[in-house]
Amino acid sequence: MPEAVRFADRVVIVTGAGGGLGRAHALLFAKHGARVVVNDLGGSTHGEGANASAADRVVEEIRAAGGTAVANHDSVTDGEKIVQHALDAFGRIDVLVNNAGILRDKSFHKMEDADWDLVYKVHVEGAYKVTRAAWPHLREQGYGRVVFTASTSGIYGNFGQSNYGMAKLGLYGLTRTLAIEGRKSNILVNAIAPTGGTRMTEGLIPPQVFEQLKPELVSPLVVYLGSAACTDTSGLFEVGGGWIGKVRWERSLGVGFDPRGGFGPDDVAAHWQQICDFEGAAHPADNIEALKEMMANLQRFAL
Ligand SMILES: NC(=O)c1ccc[n+]([C@@H]2O[C@H](COP(=O)([O-])OP(=O)(O)OC[C@H]3O[C@@H](n4cnc5c(N)ncnc54)[C@H](O)[C@@H]3O)[C@@H](O)[C@H]2O)c1
Repeated sequence: MPEAVRFADRVVIVTGAGGGLGRAHALLFAKHGARVVVNDLGGSTHGEGANASAADRVVEEIRAAGGTAVANHDSVTDGEKIVQHALDAFGRIDVLVNNAGILRDKSFHKMEDADWDLVYKVHVEGAYKVTRAAWPHLREQGYGRVVFTASTSGIYGNFGQSNYGMAKLGLYGLTRTLAIEGRKSNILVNAIAPTGGTRMTEGLIPPQVFEQLKPELVSPLVVYLGSAACTDTSGLFEVGGGWIGKVRWERSLGVGFDPRGGFGPDDVAAHWQQICDFEGAAHPADNIEALKEMMANLQRFAL
């Protein structure tokens, strides 16, 4: 085991760690020497109810294996309580894995405000609340690692998951800006889009594939991203079944029209193919790079 992927006295919060992917992350962090706050509200996949036993069981597993962990049963929407629990138990917080999640799938024409709001509340507001409460501590100590859990349903869309897709890609938007704001304090922020056989995906993935998509196969990436060994920030990684890949934005080189001369929808139509042609495409890493072509077009036609 490389020394760098050990956690010595580091403290990790994993939200929604009472089962599925979060449980696997918590176990692996503990195995690598981290002190872990196992958070889980213990409700249903639909976000109903609460049950302390989910987090408690994982803490027992960690302790039985010789690791250090405490259970926390708060909702991520009470993020400050979870962070306070970490401080009370261990005196610090170094790593935060925002993993808690629910599903309220419905095609958009059947979507009700309650389904939209609850998915937003748990995934976006929940991740915001825990991260916002942890942030000052990470800044103050000049060290932190934050992992957000996005989804391919956000990146690519998925029938019946408009609420979930909105929330999940929203978390990647949050990742990008926190990566920029956190960099000078050595707070690195990345996102994963995992696939794993959990209660959330049971019945959605064919049984023989489900069996192979073990949640534990996602955790090595998460533990790496949560470690001092990781120096990458702002990344988005698809992961599952023992495979890991990185996702990035790609933009065509585009077409520059004369901004002074005026151009209309017919010009757009005439150049549509070129606008959508990804030959030699750009991969802007930030806003400045993204605006380069636009600025070059202004210059090209400047008086
Ligand atoms: N399994 C997949 O293939 C897959 C794919 C893409 C994204 N994800 C995401 O990965 C994360 C983990 O999902 P999973 O598949 O392990 O499902 P899961 O249902 O097994 O785990 C989610 C956990 O979050 C907990 N939780 C829900 N609401 C909470 C709240 N308000 N506060 C605290 N805990 C809460 C649940 O009790 C549960 O234990 C989720 O964010 C999910 O959206 C999973």
